[in-house]
Amino acid sequence: MRLDQYIANSSELSRKDARRVIMGGRVSVNGARCKSARAHVGERDEIMLDDRLLTLPGDLYLMMNKPVGVISATTDSSQPTALDLLPADLSRHVHIAGRLDKDTTGLLLLTSDGQWSHLVTSPRRDCPKTYRVQLAEPLAPEARGQLEHGILLKDASKPTLPAKVTMRSQKEIDLTISEGRYHQVKRMLAAVGNHVEGLHRLQIGAIALDPALAPGQYRRLTEEEINSVTDPA
Ligand code: URA
Repeated sequence: MRLDQYIANSSELSRKDARRVIMGGRVSVNGARCKSARAHVGERDEIMLDDRLLTLPGDLYLMMNKPVGVISATTDSSQPTALDLLPADLSRHVHIAGRLDKDTTGLLLLTSDGQWSHLVTSPRRDCPKTYRVQLAEPLAPEARGQLEHGILLKDASKPTLPAKVTMRSQKEIDLTISEGRYHQVKRMLAAVGNHVEGLHRLQIGAIALDPALAPGQYRRLTEEEINSVTDPA
């Protein structure tokens, strides 16, 4: 949509006022000042009026490349959280759909839409999640078989669902699991006598981490990504 339309839709300004603030050099698109009301902007662009981030009404859907050392919580007085990495205009509206451990990096989804996040995390949907895993020891063929077959974790009443293993090297695998049990990947690898040294989430369902996002960066999800999460019922 045109920049003046975007501003009119996302603020109290009329289209005419929007053109005025654009001409006055008060608007930036992705960090660069933009003086053209006709410039085309889309859902992935970051539009600022002075130092205010303008967002279109409706729910927010974001992906972040979570860095190491950041916790997946809304607030914490002593440790940095994923929400601290967002501007306040966004962080006040969103929650995390599917947590990662503090030392795990990669794809984190954040949204203001409670129903959508429920669909992402619901055990009923068995949404596949792919992790790149750095291992302490080479993965033995029997261990791979156990992961692919399903294993009974300590203190669990039923085995894990079959996982998919792609060997990238002896000590690096891509592991796809369809559940979200507590510390699941680390516990699965521990159960086969190995140890996770690095864990990075690459994909949740059809939503893949955007390789253009450096650790700590985020972007809005596209319509296609948002709509890829559907209710199986
Ligand atoms: N499994 C884990 O063990 N940790 C994570 O952060 C995600 C999946």
